[in-house]
Amino acid sequence: MSLYPYTPTNPNHHTMKITLFQIAELVIIGIIFVYLVYYVYTVLFDKKYQPKAWQDAVKRGKVSRQLQSIERNYPDKVRFFNFWFQVERLKKENIPGFFAELGVYKGDSALLLHLMDPAREFHLFDTFEGFTQSDLARETGKAATYTTKNFADTSIEKVRARLNSDKFVFHKGYFPDTAAGMENTQFALVNMDADLYNPTKAGLEYFYPRLAPGGIIIIHDYNPDWPGIMKAVDDFAATIPEPLIVMPDQDSSVMIFKSK
Ligand SMILES: C[S@@+](CC[C@H](N)C(=O)[O-])C[C@H]1O[C@@H](n2cnc3c(N)ncnc32)[C@H](O)[C@@H]1O
Repeated sequence: MSLYPYTPTNPNHHTMKITLFQIAELVIIGIIFVYLVYYVYTVLFDKKYQPKAWQDAVKRGKVSRQLQSIERNYPDKVRFFNFWFQVERLKKENIPGFFAELGVYKGDSALLLHLMDPAREFHLFDTFEGFTQSDLARETGKAATYTTKNFADTSIEKVRARLNSDKFVFHKGYFPDTAAGMENTQFALVNMDADLYNPTKAGLEYFYPRLAPGGIIIIHDYNPDWPGIMKAVDDFAATIPEPLIVMPDQDSSVMIFKSK
């Protein structure tokens, strides 16, 4: 293709050939560019996925900057907003009791739950050294690939420094041994994220009777990759009057509400 038509008097004349291959290259680069602009725009500015109630709370200054920043980076939005709606409900209905978490690791979910209700006393249960061999021994599914090295790269000192609030009470060691002495405690919300059958079973048996009316237990990973968790939850659910509510978050959390 020639940019300038050839005439014997045209001094600018030269020829430039654009091949089909170059045209295809330009089209592909154009598509990638448009996609990148769209991606950056949606990550930075498109907040349509956020529930209206959350947007309203942000506008009214009811959500701390730290919690907003965690939400922006949290990979599972459904899980995040389920936590938020449940904590908001507990506050609105004045449900008494502490928060608790079984399976803390480095404190990610503990931190966001604390920021959703910073006034609540919050009990944290973990070995802070990973799983025990005796708990791992009976596992099938994904947990059967775990060793005592998984989730061992943490420590109570690091988590304490990160969470940095006197509302947290640490119970370091093997659960349920670490719950001894707390028999008369009442809980409003318990987040269970211990991955294995034994602690999940023990957690349900320990926390459910101590749950305030209207209180909630949320158990993570109720899906076929985690047969130990599914069995512990299903066996326990068969012994209580309340139904299980399965959530559509990425790993299927399941919730148990204590009847009022
Ligand atoms: C998946 S991690 C928890 C993740 C955490 N919720 C977060 O936000 O990152 C599972 C944790 O459960 C703890 N755990 C499992 N069985 C336990 C037991 N019987 N007693 C105490 N901690 C246990 C492990 O030490 C590990 O830190």
